[in-house]
This record gives sequence, structure tokens and C-alpha cells, in this order.
Amino acid sequence: MSLRNIFTFVTCALLLASYSAAAPTAASVVSLSASSAVASSSLLAWSSSETEPSSTSAAPASETVAPASDDPNYVAWTPDYTGTPEAIRGSLGSTVIGPQNVPLDLQNADMLAPPTTDNGAVPNAKWPFSMSHNRLQTGGWARQQNVGQLPAATELAGVDMRLEAGAIRELHWHTASEWAYVTQGSVQVSAVNQLGQNFNKGDLWFFPAGVPHTLQATNATEDGAEFLLVFDNGTFDEDGTFLITDWLAHTPKEVIAKNFGAPISVFNEIPGDDLYIFPAAPPGPDSDAPVSPSGTVSSPYTFAMSQMPATELSGGSVKIVDSHVFNISKTTAVAEVTVNPGAMRELHWHPTQDEWTYFLEGNARVTVFASSGNAGTFNYQGGDIGYIPASHGHYVENTGNTTLRYLEVFKTATFQDVSLNQWIALTPPAMIEATLNIKAEDLKYFSKTKPIVVGPAPVNSTANSTTAA
Ligand SMILES: *[C@@H]1O[C@H](CO)[C@@H](O)[C@H](O)[C@H]1NC(C)=O
Ligand SMILES: *[C@@H]1O[C@H](CO)[C@@H](O)[C@H](O)[C@H]1NC(C)=O
Ligand SMILES: *[C@@H]1O[C@H](CO)[C@@H](O)[C@H](O)[C@H]1NC(C)=O
Ligand SMILES: *[C@@H]1O[C@H](CO)[C@@H](O)[C@H](O)[C@H]1NC(C)=O
Ligand SMILES: *[C@@H]1O[C@H](CO)[C@@H](O)[C@H](O)[C@H]1NC(C)=O
Ligand SMILES: *[C@@H]1O[C@H](CO)[C@@H](O)[C@H](O)[C@H]1NC(C)=O
Repeated sequence: MSLRNIFTFVTCALLLASYSAAAPTAASVVSLSASSAVASSSLLAWSSSETEPSSTSAAPASETVAPASDDPNYVAWTPDYTGTPEAIRGSLGSTVIGPQNVPLDLQNADMLAPPTTDNGAVPNAKWPFSMSHNRLQTGGWARQQNVGQLPAATELAGVDMRLEAGAIRELHWHTASEWAYVTQGSVQVSAVNQLGQNFNKGDLWFFPAGVPHTLQATNATEDGAEFLLVFDNGTFDEDGTFLITDWLAHTPKEVIAKNFGAPISVFNEIPGDDLYIFPAAPPGPDSDAPVSPSGTVSSPYTFAMSQMPATELSGGSVKIVDSHVFNISKTTAVAEVTVNPGAMRELHWHPTQDEWTYFLEGNARVTVFASSGNAGTFNYQGGDIGYIPASHGHYVENTGNTTLRYLEVFKTATFQDVSLNQWIALTPPAMIEATLNIKAEDLKYFSKTKPIVVGPAPVNSTANSTTAA
């Protein structure tokens, strides 16, 4: 058979199928002849064997491209650095002698002194909630990020909302679905679906588009609650939701009275404008909710993610909640990831879904690889949002010495990712040797299962805290 008659396909579809961190992954290697289109082999012996692959089949190393630079490109300064950050990396760059926003430069080392591997144009992938205009109300506040703040974030938008104990986010609905993660305190939620079924309790919730609901901070903690809301539309506007007070204030009162079959005097005191967020007495027990003759919803709107055990990994842990465990959550999936100091969420990508990232605590370094030589590195801390378009390669490295904890949120029913480590380990070794010039004896470093979060590398691992000064 001549070479041009042979096409080799590595089927990766199953590489992406894993919803569970521990799920096994299948790989297949099939040789097809163009004339017969009949598979001549499948699942080569190397992939089911633990023995060291032979290097005899490796093609000679290509000399067409010079090797990549040996510069490790550590972050130029770590979160504890207190000096003056300078725009210097090795022999490149120079000091800043004009005006300088030092606190922002300290937080964004890879903006001022990027790794030399960064190149080209990568759309902005960072928005701190601290830069969002806040809406202050009696009893709480809300600030949002949508395409207005982060133009690349077309698929998902986020809101950070605070309610003092007892405060209410009033009865409302909207055209996007709403997924929420309670970051502090406890919230009582209630909702009624199209079938007239109601629901009332929980710590993580999901309301499909159009389902009306309420949120009220309980007094389980003195301070009330704060929570993150994520909507499955990048143009979602928290100031554009449908509010019950707004509707009734803009409906003729004779129509309201007729609708409910009640005397018009019943509505003498309804608000003339919307309330949005307002203080109230703390809610009673969940059992106070009226009993619906249609019953309660078959798939609960809430999920106790905080009580779910995490999958422990060499460099941290992960919890994945998508519609496989939280049935109603058909348009939002999440991975809550913890990364130990020096460890890293491995190089990976999400095949079809953009990632909306929310940093809960710690410090992170992320490089977004956008193909065609384009790569950009960003730094994050608690309260920051990241956004990584579908299929864009990335990692999330803990650059501090406290635990990094963050959420990967997707507009999808099923969490999916592709691990670079696993892809390499499940590709014919000769292909890897020929492509990457990696020696056969070093292929032992690659993992046939997804590491997800890798521990600190055995050598040269710690973040380099040298500074430009
Ligand atoms: C790590 O913690 C120690 C002790 O609190 C502190 O002195 C140091 O600056 C921290 N280093 C980093 C990189 O945050
Ligand atoms: C997102 O919302 C806008 C209106 O705010 C709407 O025009 C658009 O169709 C929505 N996109 C999707 C995918 O639903
Ligand atoms: C919380 O509020 C409920 C209802 O008002 C009340 O019965 C309860 O005593 C309060 N608990 C605390 C700790 O304040
Ligand atoms: C979720 O759906 C699956 C199958 O679709 C079902 O077996 C399971 O009972 C459902 N779980 C809940 C909590 O509704
Ligand atoms: C660690 O890094 C230094 C500097 O880049 C290098 O000289 C050394 O060989 C590295 N050590 C190992 C074991 O890779
Ligand atoms: C950090 O970089 C400096 C200068 O390049 C080097 O001397 C030092 O060994 C590095 N530290 C680590 C932990 O690699």
C-alpha cells in the first residue's frame, strides 16, 4: 500500500464523552484504505498494554521548525509581592516612568510583563465584579456582567447579588434561564411552573426560562446571603427582568380587580413602582408554602451541591453538577474546582461550549490559546470573572500559596472537556515522537486518564517570585 492510499483517523469522539471525572475513556485507532474503505485494524496493542511503547517505528525528528524557547516563563511576580511592578521580563521591556496604577499592575502581572509565549490578539477574558456598576437598594444590592462589560461573553452573563437577612428579590421572571450558586448564607427560593406546581427550598438552584420565582435571604446567618446568578444569554440584563410590581403598576386597576374577581379596594396599596430588592421579616419554614393541588415539581429546582462529595485529585478536587445529577439544569452545567498551591487545572478545552469562569478565592494564571499563533495570559483573584470561548485551549494555575477555588460554568446539559494529557497518551507513540520530538522513554509521563488537576511538578515547580526590580 502506498502512503497516499492510507488515511489514519484517530477517533476522539469518546475522549469528550466523559461527564464523570472518573469515567473510563475509550480510544480507537483505525487504518482505512482509500480504495476499500475497510478498516484493517482496530485498537492497536499499545493502547491496551501497560508496557513501554517501542520507539523503533518513530519517524526521524523533523528539522523544519526550530525548537521552542527553553524560557520557563514563570509569572513575573506572585500575589505577595509588595514592590513596584515593572514592565520587564528578562532582557525585554523597561521600567514604567509615567503614571502607574500599581494595585492593578500588581494584580495583573501577565498583562504588564507577559510570558514571551503570548502572541497576537486574544479578546479580553477578564472582568472583575469590582468594575461593575452596582445597583444599591434598601436591603441589598446587585451588580452584573454581560456583553456590555465583556464583549466576548456572548453565551452567558452573571450577576452577583446580596440580600440582608429577610430581604427579598421580588417575584419575577425572565427570558433566560437562571442558575445560581450561593456563596454565603442561605436563601429560600420559591417557584411555580407552567403546571402550577410549586417548590420552596435549597442552596443551588436552576429556573428554566420564563418560570416565575422569588428569592429571600434567611436569617440562618446574621448577615443574610450573597449569591452568584448565571444566565444562559450574554445579553441578559438584570435591570430588564419582568417584575410583578412593575406589571401591576402598569395594568388598569379595573382589569386587575376583574382578573382576580376581587373588589378593587383589595389593590389600594399595591406599589406604584417596582421594588426589585426590599427588606422584609425573615422567611418562615419551607413548609409554610401553599400546597398545590397539582403537586410539587417532579425535578427539583434546587440541588445541595455543598453536601456532594468532591472527587479528590493529585492537585486538588472537583465536583461536577450537570443535568445527569441535577435533572432540571438542562442549559447550565458547572465544575467547582479546587487547586492546591503550586498545582494546576491541566491543559484542556471544552469542545463545543464557552466557559464562564467565576473565581471564589485564591490566585490564578490562565493562558487562552486561540489558534493561529494567538495566545493571551490573564490573572484572576476572588470576585473576578473569566471567559474562554469553546475549543480554546487553557489551563488554570494556582499562583498563590492559598487554595484556589473557582467555578467553570457552561451553557449545556452535559459537562465535557478534552484533556491534552490523555489525548497524547492515547495517540500512537510514534505520532507523538515524530510531532513533538519527545523521546520514547519520556512517554511514561503522559496519563491515559484525565488528571483534571495536576499536583506541583516534581522539579522547577514553584511560582517564580523574582521581580523586575
Ligand atoms: C505565602 O505565605 C507566606 C506566609 O504567610 C507569605 O509570607 C508569603 O508571602 C506567601 N507567598 C505567596 C506567593 O503568596
Ligand atoms: C438572547 O437575548 C436576546 C434579547 O436580549 C435575544 O435577542 C436573543 O435571541 C437571545 N439569544 C438566545 C440564544 O436565546
Ligand atoms: C429567624 O426568623 C424567624 C422568623 O422571623 C424567627 O422565628 C427566628 O427566631 C429567627 N432566628 C434568628 C436566629 O434570628
Ligand atoms: C433524574 O432523571 C433520571 C433519569 O432521567 C431519574 O432516574 C432520576 O430519578 C431523576 N432524579 C431526580 C432527582 O428527579
Ligand atoms: C530547572 O530549571 C533550571 C533553569 O531553567 C534548569 O537549568 C534545570 O535543568 C531544571 N531542572 C530540571 C531537573 O529540569
Ligand atoms: C526564578 O528565576 C530566577 C531568575 O531567572 C532563578 O534564579 C530562580 O532559580 C527561579 N526560581 C525558581 C523556583 O525556579
